[in-house]
Amino acid sequence: MTKPLICMTLTGKTLQENAELAKKYEKKCDIVELRADCLEEDEQLYVRRFPSMVSQPTLLTIRRDVDGGKYTGSEFSRTSLFGRALAFANTDRNRNFAYVDFEEDFVIPGIQDAALAFDVRIIRSVHNMTGPIVNLKERASKMLRTGYEIPKIAFMPKTLNDVLNLFREGEQMKNDHIFIAMGNLGTPSRILSSRSNSYLTYVSPDELMTNLKGIGQLNPNVINDLYRFHSINEETSLYGITGWPLLKTLSPEIHNQGYIGHGMNAVYVPVRSEQVSETLSFADELGIKGLSVTIPHKESVMYYLSEISEEALSIGAVNTIYKENGIWKGCNTDAGGFRQALEEFLSVNKLKRKKVAIIGAGGGARAIAYVVKQMGGKACIFNRTLSSAKELAEKYGFDYCELSPSCVDKLEAYSDLIIQTTSVGMNAEGFSSAENDPIYFYNFKGHESLFDIVYTPATTPVMRRAFQAGCRTCNGLKMLQYQGYMQFKIFTGVDYKNAESE
Ligand code: ATR
Repeated sequence: MTKPLICMTLTGKTLQENAELAKKYEKKCDIVELRADCLEEDEQLYVRRFPSMVSQPTLLTIRRDVDGGKYTGSEFSRTSLFGRALAFANTDRNRNFAYVDFEEDFVIPGIQDAALAFDVRIIRSVHNMTGPIVNLKERASKMLRTGYEIPKIAFMPKTLNDVLNLFREGEQMKNDHIFIAMGNLGTPSRILSSRSNSYLTYVSPDELMTNLKGIGQLNPNVINDLYRFHSINEETSLYGITGWPLLKTLSPEIHNQGYIGHGMNAVYVPVRSEQVSETLSFADELGIKGLSVTIPHKESVMYYLSEISEEALSIGAVNTIYKENGIWKGCNTDAGGFRQALEEFLSVNKLKRKKVAIIGAGGGARAIAYVVKQMGGKACIFNRTLSSAKELAEKYGFDYCELSPSCVDKLEAYSDLIIQTTSVGMNAEGFSSAENDPIYFYNFKGHESLFDIVYTPATTPVMRRAFQAGCRTCNGLKMLQYQGYMQFKIFTGVDYKNAESE
């Protein structure tokens, strides 16, 4: 089996635009795919020139709309376009397309013969843009028209089990093949091609990503610099993060930078799943050694663990799982990460005589209430749903109150330190409003310290308002980093350092 290659998909409107991007990412991809279906009609007349315009080997694809492409013309005109692209083969192979993608049902012997005669390798493809394809091995061998073709199967998984099946079947295949699971669930199949024995993985430059929305391609910088695609091999230790929908996460940056800093052969990948039980089966089969666990699995994962730390049990949530002696163990580094960030922010390690308001009573608030109690603070939990505020407060002997304008006096009474744990200000730019500021009705006096566990944006609307009133504020970035560093130590046994710490 050869080592998997990186193929950059080019969906620009002109050959020139595509060639410029091929140049820009020259060192970050091994092959470039010209998606001729995305070219302007006039440009399509000149596809034959493209291989001479770039330095990488080229793949020609003219994808029909039914297969997720933009080609809406007749099969006759598509066939002519293939003919035009493959004709007049040059004696210098670099000036010809190195690969051509023909769909499973595209059978035009003249064109196929031309490809074979000129040494253009055929990728024989099938796509399901709306659901999984199973029995991949069998399907792959049925698709092939000649022994020289590379079967490509790309599908949209419905669950992580569909992605696991791709690895299972790919691992057993000795012949060249390309297996891709698309969408957010499919990310591991795009990064861990060496584990599915896939001939290549597809990436797309950010400049053209909008043309490929939803299929889940990574960009060439991320696959090279963050995931170190070409150095992933049999010996690479695998780690990851699981959650759902897990749209944005900084954890791969934190952990992968740590492996780079230590020169470790390890990679950390997003393993999205709606069911945490599927994550565990996936991790068991692929040999993943440790996972960060995030929304909504922090509680449900506990059911599947053989050992849970006392702290995590007491908090009632696990954010870190790792395999030791063949069993899954769990602990919670959110509490430790929060404590370290808070101590730095306030320059104290006790909250004696401090009156603390905790806004929210969800997963985040649980680890925070635990720390506030540990540090000796007196707190009141404010939450939209009173029953969950009550439940959490009673666990630690705290006060509680409904989060609404009527709680303003109570909030004032607990305003030495205000800790915002809800998702309300997340991704909210602009001025404070009832929609993006959970305590919009409260006027900061200037003496309050505000800790918001949100980190995107770096300044949430409530933080801006507090800052303008003269308060000290802190966002959740340090908390995220510290909990990640603690996980890193649990996963690898060594203290965190990244490439910049050198
Ligand atoms: P997490 O695990 O990230 O804390 P969670 O468990 O869903 O996520 O908790 C989210 C918290 O944000 C809860 O306290 C939730 O209040 P409810 O218990 O009433 O649901 C709070 N929250 C979410 N959206 C909110 C909104 N629009 N206004 C006020 N509170 C909100």
